[in-house]
Amino acid sequence: MQSSSRRTFLGICLGGLAAAGAATATWPVIRYLSPRSVEETGGKVSFPESDVPADGAKFFDFRGTTGVVVRTKSGQLVAFSAICTHLGCIVQWEKDKQDFLCPCHAGRYSPDGAVIAGPPPKPLPRLPFSVTNGLITVG
Ligand code: FES
Repeated sequence: MQSSSRRTFLGICLGGLAAAGAATATWPVIRYLSPRSVEETGGKVSFPESDVPADGAKFFDFRGTTGVVVRTKSGQLVAFSAICTHLGCIVQWEKDKQDFLCPCHAGRYSPDGAVIAGPPPKPLPRLPFSVTNGLITVG
Protein backbone atom coordinates (compact mmCIF):
# COMPACT_ATOMS: atom_id res chain seq x y z
CA MET A 1 0.00 0.00 0.00
CA GLN A 2 2.81 2.39 0.90
CA SER A 3 4.62 1.50 -2.31
CA SER A 4 1.48 2.28 -4.30
CA SER A 5 1.04 5.75 -2.76
CA ARG A 6 4.75 6.44 -3.26
CA ARG A 7 4.37 5.54 -6.95
CA THR A 8 1.30 7.76 -7.20
CA PHE A 9 3.19 10.64 -5.58
CA LEU A 10 6.16 10.18 -7.92
CA GLY A 11 3.78 9.99 -10.87
CA ILE A 12 2.17 13.27 -9.90
CA CYS A 13 5.57 14.91 -9.44
CA LEU A 14 6.86 13.68 -12.80
CA GLY A 15 3.63 14.73 -14.50
CA GLY A 16 3.94 18.19 -13.00
CA LEU A 17 7.57 18.46 -14.11
CA ALA A 18 6.64 17.30 -17.61
CA ALA A 19 3.83 19.87 -17.81
CA ALA A 20 6.10 22.66 -16.58
CA GLY A 21 8.77 21.64 -19.09
CA ALA A 22 6.28 21.56 -21.94
CA ALA A 23 4.94 25.00 -20.99
CA THR A 24 8.47 26.41 -20.77
CA ALA A 25 9.38 24.98 -24.17
CA THR A 26 6.23 26.12 -25.99
CA TRP A 27 5.80 29.62 -24.49
CA PRO A 28 8.42 31.30 -26.73
CA VAL A 29 6.81 29.73 -29.80
CA ILE A 30 3.33 30.88 -28.77
CA ARG A 31 4.66 34.37 -28.00
CA TYR A 32 6.45 34.53 -31.37
CA LEU A 33 3.37 33.49 -33.32
CA SER A 34 0.85 35.68 -31.52
CA PRO A 35 0.05 39.12 -32.93
CA ARG A 36 1.99 41.86 -31.27
CA SER A 37 0.48 45.01 -29.89
CA VAL A 38 1.94 48.45 -30.45
CA GLU A 39 0.81 49.42 -26.98
CA GLU A 40 3.11 47.14 -25.02
CA THR A 41 5.60 49.75 -23.81
CA GLY A 42 6.15 53.47 -23.97
CA GLY A 43 8.82 55.39 -25.77
CA LYS A 44 9.34 57.52 -28.85
CA VAL A 45 11.58 56.94 -31.82
CA SER A 46 13.37 59.74 -33.69
CA PHE A 47 15.36 59.73 -36.89
CA PRO A 48 16.25 62.22 -39.63
CA GLU A 49 13.54 62.89 -42.20
CA SER A 50 16.19 62.22 -44.85
CA ASP A 51 16.16 58.54 -43.78
CA VAL A 52 12.82 58.17 -45.58
CA PRO A 53 13.60 57.97 -49.30
CA ALA A 54 11.38 59.44 -51.99
CA ASP A 55 8.51 57.02 -52.67
CA GLY A 56 10.12 54.81 -50.06
CA ALA A 57 9.80 53.62 -46.50
CA LYS A 58 11.83 53.44 -43.33
CA PHE A 59 11.12 50.58 -40.96
CA PHE A 60 12.18 50.86 -37.33
CA ASP A 61 11.81 49.18 -33.96
CA PHE A 62 8.94 50.76 -32.11
CA ARG A 63 7.89 49.79 -28.61
CA GLY A 64 8.91 46.19 -29.08
CA THR A 65 7.33 45.91 -32.52
CA THR A 66 8.00 47.35 -35.96
CA GLY A 67 6.86 50.71 -37.26
CA VAL A 68 7.18 52.24 -40.69
CA VAL A 69 7.19 55.77 -42.08
CA VAL A 70 6.38 56.05 -45.78
CA ARG A 71 6.88 58.98 -48.11
CA THR A 72 4.22 58.64 -50.80
CA LYS A 73 4.59 59.79 -54.40
CA SER A 74 2.84 63.02 -53.46
CA GLY A 75 5.54 63.61 -50.81
CA GLN A 76 3.23 63.03 -47.87
CA LEU A 77 4.69 61.27 -44.81
CA VAL A 78 2.58 58.66 -43.03
CA ALA A 79 3.46 56.41 -40.09
CA PHE A 80 1.99 53.01 -39.29
CA SER A 81 2.50 49.95 -37.24
CA ALA A 82 4.06 47.51 -39.72
CA ILE A 83 2.29 44.58 -38.09
CA CYS A 84 -0.32 43.02 -40.34
CA THR A 85 -3.75 42.97 -38.73
CA HIS A 86 -4.38 39.43 -39.97
CA LEU A 87 -1.87 37.27 -38.10
CA GLY A 88 0.89 39.68 -37.21
CA CYS A 89 3.48 39.35 -39.97
CA ILE A 90 5.53 42.41 -40.86
CA VAL A 91 4.33 44.14 -44.01
CA GLN A 92 6.64 45.34 -46.77
CA TRP A 93 6.43 48.60 -48.69
CA GLU A 94 6.20 48.03 -52.43
CA LYS A 95 7.63 51.18 -53.94
CA ASP A 96 6.62 50.36 -57.52
CA LYS A 97 2.99 49.67 -56.57
CA GLN A 98 2.86 52.27 -53.80
CA ASP A 99 1.20 49.90 -51.35
CA PHE A 100 2.02 47.55 -48.48
CA LEU A 101 2.21 43.81 -49.05
CA CYS A 102 2.03 41.25 -46.29
CA PRO A 103 4.22 38.36 -47.41
CA CYS A 104 2.43 35.78 -45.26
CA HIS A 105 -0.99 35.63 -46.97
CA ALA A 106 -0.74 38.33 -49.64
CA GLY A 107 -2.70 40.94 -47.73
CA ARG A 108 -2.41 44.40 -49.28
CA TYR A 109 -2.85 47.82 -47.77
CA SER A 110 -3.07 51.17 -49.51
CA PRO A 111 -0.64 53.99 -48.63
CA ASP A 112 -3.21 55.26 -46.13
CA GLY A 113 -3.26 51.84 -44.42
CA ALA A 114 -6.67 50.67 -45.71
CA VAL A 115 -7.08 47.01 -46.64
CA ILE A 116 -7.27 46.62 -50.42
CA ALA A 117 -6.82 42.84 -50.78
CA GLY A 118 -6.42 39.63 -48.85
CA PRO A 119 -7.47 38.51 -45.40
CA PRO A 120 -6.49 41.41 -43.09
CA PRO A 121 -9.61 42.38 -41.12
CA LYS A 122 -8.59 45.94 -40.25
CA PRO A 123 -6.43 48.78 -41.59
CA LEU A 124 -2.85 49.20 -40.43
CA PRO A 125 -2.90 51.24 -37.23
CA ARG A 126 -1.55 54.76 -37.76
CA LEU A 127 1.15 56.00 -35.46
CA PRO A 128 1.28 59.60 -34.31
CA PHE A 129 4.37 61.45 -35.45
CA SER A 130 5.77 64.94 -35.86
CA VAL A 131 8.50 66.50 -37.95
CA THR A 132 10.60 69.21 -36.33
CA ASN A 133 13.77 70.67 -37.83
CA GLY A 134 14.15 67.69 -40.15
CA LEU A 135 13.71 65.16 -37.37
CA ILE A 136 10.79 62.72 -37.40
CA THR A 137 9.55 61.66 -33.98
CA VAL A 138 7.11 58.75 -33.81
CA GLY A 139 5.05 58.02 -30.71
S1 FES B 1 -0.53 37.78 -41.65
FE1 FES B 1 -0.72 39.35 -43.12
S2 FES B 1 -2.15 38.59 -44.54
FE2 FES B 1 -1.99 37.02 -43.05
